[in-house]
Amino acid sequence: MNRKKLSLLLGILTFLVGPVFAQMDSTIDLEAMSAKGKELYFERVSCWVCHSDDASGGVGPTLLNGPTPLDIQEQLDSNPQMAVIVSELNPSVDDLLALSVYIRDLGGNSTSLDDVNGWRTELTAMLAAKADATVFALTARDKKVLEIQSFDTVVEDWQRKAKTGSLKQDYQVTELATYDNGEAVFSPEPGKTYFYQNIGTTARRVRDVEPSNYTQVVIGDADTKEVIVSGAMPEELRGAVHTTVLTPDARYVYIIGPSSGVAPQGGRALRVPATLLKVDALTLQPIKQLDVGGRTHHAQIFQDKYLLIDTFIASPGGLDVFLFDPETDQIIGGVRSEDLGGSSYTAYTDNEFIYILMQPGNDGGMLDGAARVASGQATTSLPYWVSKLDPETWEVVAEYPYSGFRGDWIIIDSDSDYLYVPAAGSANVSKINNSTGAIEWSTPTGIGPYGGTLNADETELWVSNKGEATGALGRTLTVVDTESGRGLDTVFSGYQADHVLLSPDGKEMWVTSNGEGRIYVFDAATKEQLKVIDMPQRGNPHGLVWVQYDENGVGHVVRDQGGFHNGINPADGRPLIK
Ligand code: HEC
Repeated sequence: MNRKKLSLLLGILTFLVGPVFAQMDSTIDLEAMSAKGKELYFERVSCWVCHSDDASGGVGPTLLNGPTPLDIQEQLDSNPQMAVIVSELNPSVDDLLALSVYIRDLGGNSTSLDDVNGWRTELTAMLAAKADATVFALTARDKKVLEIQSFDTVVEDWQRKAKTGSLKQDYQVTELATYDNGEAVFSPEPGKTYFYQNIGTTARRVRDVEPSNYTQVVIGDADTKEVIVSGAMPEELRGAVHTTVLTPDARYVYIIGPSSGVAPQGGRALRVPATLLKVDALTLQPIKQLDVGGRTHHAQIFQDKYLLIDTFIASPGGLDVFLFDPETDQIIGGVRSEDLGGSSYTAYTDNEFIYILMQPGNDGGMLDGAARVASGQATTSLPYWVSKLDPETWEVVAEYPYSGFRGDWIIIDSDSDYLYVPAAGSANVSKINNSTGAIEWSTPTGIGPYGGTLNADETELWVSNKGEATGALGRTLTVVDTESGRGLDTVFSGYQADHVLLSPDGKEMWVTSNGEGRIYVFDAATKEQLKVIDMPQRGNPHGLVWVQYDENGVGHVVRDQGGFHNGINPADGRPLIK
């Protein structure tokens, strides 16, 4: 028999009996996968480093609950602490399947070949959808930028990216579970101001405490700056934490929940990245687990009524940026990245418009673009921009490209005249005219700037140099003159501080350090450090919200990461609620 005929025969044989073999070999396949998963788990830079040799947890939480490969991919997409895995291991679909089988074995979670096949289909579809979306049409202007690497004409040559007309989309929120809210653990006093802070597991730079595997809601006294009480979420409701947001009446706080609660065992149902927990602000226990159609990244109050939420990653059918009604726990409308013409990162508001940070392509809001530029793997990137959306009509009314790569925050002055955008990948901050889109100035910051805030009279912009997207551990704040863009000061702060917020009385700058599990408080006028507030178990803080109780004991959110609320404006010199 010649070679051609032999291979033809083998081909036919494989075709006929292949599926039978696959069925019969299932145990062997799973064993081989587990062995491969073990190898991957113990690569030089891999899971064991943070989740420990037996996956019982270390810097990262325990994995003994048996993550699916989709859960792992979701972490790679959304958890900046695991960015090192993307750069070092860059796991393929087969690698993720193998890792999951091995980790599930470690925790005694059974896996069938059907599970593996189901996951493979879903994971492949998920990654393919992402790959397609990264194709981004280059305009003539884009090509020029790539050639000359300059921002000089970025505004003049801009071509609209968003679709025209209403971009409104809906998503039906589902209530996955409800719980009894338990006993109050906090009794606020009339006339007092408190802070709320969601925290995750023990911060990665911390070595001197027994690590916590929980997410918690922390309440502290805003005057004495002492933690009063904290409530841990039940272990099965723990997720990778981000953001702190309360309803305007301060009765509920939302914190990211797990993703496992969404996908039934085997993960074959509609893939939804992570749930959102609604927590009673006085008992600090969850009352509801919600599927909002994506993994919430940032959230803030809109018009003292709704919550503006953006997602790290939206589930199929989910929205990237949306308005959420906390009375009904339903979405009242939102938009998808692809309709905006790129990939959305986070969203901010002046309570009239919604401003969305956009990056070219669509990698689901990941850190990739900026990280590649910051590490020299790419010399430049296409322009990044701010999409200005009118939530009355859901139309994009303006697009403001800016100088820099991967804006992280939009700071809006009290008259909505200017937007300030710190950009991590290029370590600069730009001031954008909100009516014309003109870039008034662009100035350097420290490494990987993230959040920012204005001081009370809006003469100074404070930016926190987190080291975002660079792999560096920033630990300074840059203070810039808002008029001239001139650097005024560098303030020494905590490692990897991402949010910096002016307190509602206009007197202090509060800085949340992800790296240290602490909040640093500075005097806004003298720039002196006033206090360092350790989070319980030094959990990783995200967000920061101030709540004030009036003389009748009724709570009001007066400040969150988006701005000042319920009539508070330190720029106006308006007094606190009486
Ligand atoms: C550099 C440290 C680090 C490495 C390396 C790392 N992780 Fe993680 N991982 C974390 C941290 C920290 C969290 C929790 C994040 C949070 O709570 O905000 C986490 C969360 C997770 C979660 C979600 C767990 C949950 O219950 O929410 C999974 C799944 C996971 N990691 C899997 C892996 C796998 C698989 C690897 C190896 C391929 C890996 N991780 C490598 C730090 C790491």
